Amino acid sequence: MSPSESPSLRRKRQLELYRRALQTMPGGTDSNFRAWGDSTVYIDRGKGGRVWDIDDNEYIDLRMGYGPVILGHGDDRVDDHVNFRMRRGVSFSLTSEDEVEAMELVKELTGWVGKARMTVSGTEATMHAMRVARAYTGRTKIVKFEGQYHGVHDYALISVTPNDMAELGDADNPVALAWGRGIPEAVSRTVIPARFNEMAVLRRIFEREGNDIAAVIVEPVLGNAQGIQPRPGFHEEMRALTREFGALLIFDEVKTGFRFARGGAAEYFGVTPDLATYAKAMGNGYPAACFAGTDEVMSVLPDKVSHGGTYAGNRVAAAAAVATLRILRDTDALQTIHDVGRAIQAGVSEVISERGLPYVFTGHPSMFGIMFTEKAPTEYRDWARSDHELYDAVAIGMHARGAMPEPDSREPWFMCEAHAHEDMVARAVSIFADSLDAALEARSRGELSLPDLGMGTGEHVAAGVGEAATAE
Ligand SMILES: Cc1ncc(COP(=O)(O)O)c(C=O)c1O
Repeated sequence: MSPSESPSLRRKRQLELYRRALQTMPGGTDSNFRAWGDSTVYIDRGKGGRVWDIDDNEYIDLRMGYGPVILGHGDDRVDDHVNFRMRRGVSFSLTSEDEVEAMELVKELTGWVGKARMTVSGTEATMHAMRVARAYTGRTKIVKFEGQYHGVHDYALISVTPNDMAELGDADNPVALAWGRGIPEAVSRTVIPARFNEMAVLRRIFEREGNDIAAVIVEPVLGNAQGIQPRPGFHEEMRALTREFGALLIFDEVKTGFRFARGGAAEYFGVTPDLATYAKAMGNGYPAACFAGTDEVMSVLPDKVSHGGTYAGNRVAAAAAVATLRILRDTDALQTIHDVGRAIQAGVSEVISERGLPYVFTGHPSMFGIMFTEKAPTEYRDWARSDHELYDAVAIGMHARGAMPEPDSREPWFMCEAHAHEDMVARAVSIFADSLDAALEARSRGELSLPDLGMGTGEHVAAGVGEAATAE
């Protein structure tokens, strides 16, 4: 079979399970982001840097669960520790030493955190970080950046990643765009969208309503838009501006935390926030997350701010966090992950350069995007100017050839320690090369059609809940 011919995947069992799941689960999945229609993947197992679906198709996993699995699937060091600890019971709604040690490790690895509280997901962590900021400052509004994703609570689903940039409104005056229905207008009015890397827009927002802004929440790189990086000095300027107006700076490190460096993006960029949120790489795939801050800011807890959760700090997640963070602290796992990323980037850039296409890498070697574009992006709106149609075709072609990046260019490739094993780097690069050739050939024949996987869709409603769904 020539490299450009597209092999096909076995899908029989998955189609059967998809039809069955549709009877019970909207979209046949537990998340909109995994609802890919007839192409929805039903997983069987994972080990190291590979996964197998229930039709026994094998893939080099370049999604790693959207980032949490930083060491590899089924890492015995973590699983054995969790197994050992969970035999003592998993849920008490009482506090275990596992939780205390997990939060101590967050404090130790970050170096700036004073206090931290566990949650079960990043969504809960950002929701609480925003609440703590409002409580500490006595102010209501939160500034967030277009193209940034902070989870699925109402205050986070504003100006996330629409496909059509026009929906974001005028570049000098972005509109608060609710992702989906059911988000009260009163909520979207408290969230002010800004544009990443655009200090003039941010300063204008502060000069207009700075006295009512509790915090700016920011993904240090646009981890949900290919990893678009901050221009040099942007974080420092934002740090200074928030201080000038008495607002807090929240680093949402759900994707960058314990991945860019032991101290996450705060260490990597050398900027210390007031609050931060961690999840994903903290637990190697177990549902461990937390929000954290300086002693001063976190002093609003426990008396002045509500936080709780039956599963917050449950032993399985806490033990996984202890094992994972100890490994990241005591071994060179992060160095290996960064080296694997650089090796794959080197191979991919050789492939693309040989074919004379313009491209840039975004993000960090441990979590990077490939953007087919002439000009390096600085904000989410730039994504629309890139050839993401070509990227998506390549990604889908890679699935058929045994490697699985997210079939949406906005999601970066995630590296894990286990990708250093066997020939996964070389295989991922050659699969990328064959898939790029196939996509370019299809385009030259005018046949670059993409299956509708429903990526980035879902309604976007300018401030307000929109008409009732039942109206249709
Ligand atoms: C930067 C960021 N914040 C928050 C979240 C939400 O985390 P979770 O999916 O654990 O609720 C995500 C998830 O991808 C994320 O990437």
